[in-house]
Amino acid sequence: MDASPRNLIYLTRTSDQTLRSLLAERGWSIRIAGSSREAEREASRNSAAAGLLDLSSHLDKHELASLERCLSASKVGWVAAATVDQMADPAIRRLIRDYCFDYVTLPCPDEKLVNALGHAFGMAALAVGVVDPGHAQGPLGEMVGGSEAMLRLFRSIRKVAGTDAPVYIHGESGTGKELTAQAIHEHSGRRHAPFVAINCGAISPQLLLSELFGYERGAFTGANQRKIGRIEAAHTGTLFLDEIGDLPLEAQASLLRFLQEGTIDRLGGFDPVPVDVRVISATHFDLHTLMEEGRFRSDLFHRLCVLRIDNPPLRARGKDIEVLARHVLERYKGDASRALRGFSDDGVRALYNYEWPGNVRELINRVRRAIVMTDSKLVTAADLELGQSPIAQLKTLAEARESAEREAIEMALERHPGRLVDAARELGISRVTLYRLMSALGMSTPRDDRDDGDLPEAAEG
Ligand SMILES: Nc1ncnc2c1ncn2[C@@H]1O[C@H](COP(=O)(O)OP(=O)(O)OP(=O)(O)O)[C@@H](O)[C@H]1O
Ligand SMILES: [Mg+2]
Repeated sequence: MDASPRNLIYLTRTSDQTLRSLLAERGWSIRIAGSSREAEREASRNSAAAGLLDLSSHLDKHELASLERCLSASKVGWVAAATVDQMADPAIRRLIRDYCFDYVTLPCPDEKLVNALGHAFGMAALAVGVVDPGHAQGPLGEMVGGSEAMLRLFRSIRKVAGTDAPVYIHGESGTGKELTAQAIHEHSGRRHAPFVAINCGAISPQLLLSELFGYERGAFTGANQRKIGRIEAAHTGTLFLDEIGDLPLEAQASLLRFLQEGTIDRLGGFDPVPVDVRVISATHFDLHTLMEEGRFRSDLFHRLCVLRIDNPPLRARGKDIEVLARHVLERYKGDASRALRGFSDDGVRALYNYEWPGNVRELINRVRRAIVMTDSKLVTAADLELGQSPIAQLKTLAEARESAEREAIEMALERHPGRLVDAARELGISRVTLYRLMSALGMSTPRDDRDDGDLPEAAEG
């Protein structure tokens, strides 16, 4: 990361001259912002930056709302610096937890702060795709994205990676759940140990137990030698249980036993084998429905879902749709029969107008197909086979307005899951109006839950 200039936005009322000199010596290009508004302006100028939010000099309680806007609107990895007293304030803790990449409690050693800023910059740079080429593994080998929804995802990944607690990843098909699981592993202390994935839906129920737990020689006809199961293969590393909703009840019972006891029994074995793995699970199913139907054990769910991550659908990622499409084009343009220059205007419009039910996977497939099929230098909506998108066909102003309202509400809810008051505030309307709009649009109105939802989030560092 050291190759590129490192921008730092220092949001403070009383900037610390010694700290500034130290940061400048370490190669930071520093911009002082005296207010959230100025910081917002700086953020829009820079492509990626670290931000130092000096709460000790800055904060005044009624400034929280504008601060939230500033922290969420920018592609900045914020590190908050707060006093012990400030850290006791739930509103400040929440601000830090929701919007900052990291925090330090003052007074703190300079080195600690400098390190935190370095990491925050690295993550912000990763998010906006300006990764040092030495570190990049190609756009599809990494998670591309700079939208608020993705920045939040990156923050969550970073937070949960620091613990060993089980993580449950929920998200529609093709949203990158497996990539998220890999990123958690790669950022965790287990990164040098194996990452072992098993797709519970792709293996027959008869084979699943022996795949997971392994077997001893002679355990059943055909078991000619001992086989180590996937759980054991992940020892000291991470086990990724994909499509966990497909796990048959029998395997659920065995898995629960493993999670409770930390040991496995190979089929046909006598002694339990201790195994140290970090478990990540994922599904696109609604596990709550499966639990209500008696198809998924709630005790297992609570063991698996100590921390929860929600992968946002592609349609809630704004500009990232185009960024991803251009990445895919760059990566695969060699497959075209002629030199491709990019997307036509109608191609770009179509990318934004489409709902992307198959999410990133669908986008990759459509762009790759278009690269091969196009007859021109620019990929068009027709090449993407998106000419018929329902929104693109909108006829009336009323329809356009309705669709724009729906999209704005969905995005606000995406940013404030389960918190209608916050979503309404962001939209500049009252909660009652938001309720009314949502029911008029036929959207289901979630229970308003200002206490951060019933599913736990990552522990604070
Ligand atoms: N943010 C991203 N940046 C780049 N590529 C991505 C991103 N998210 C997903 N992908 C790519 O999209 C494809 C689908 O991702 P992945 O398999 O992780 O999704 P999934 O949620 O596990 O899907 P499914 O529910 O169908 O199993 C992969 O090729 C992955 O590399
Ligand atoms: Mg998957």
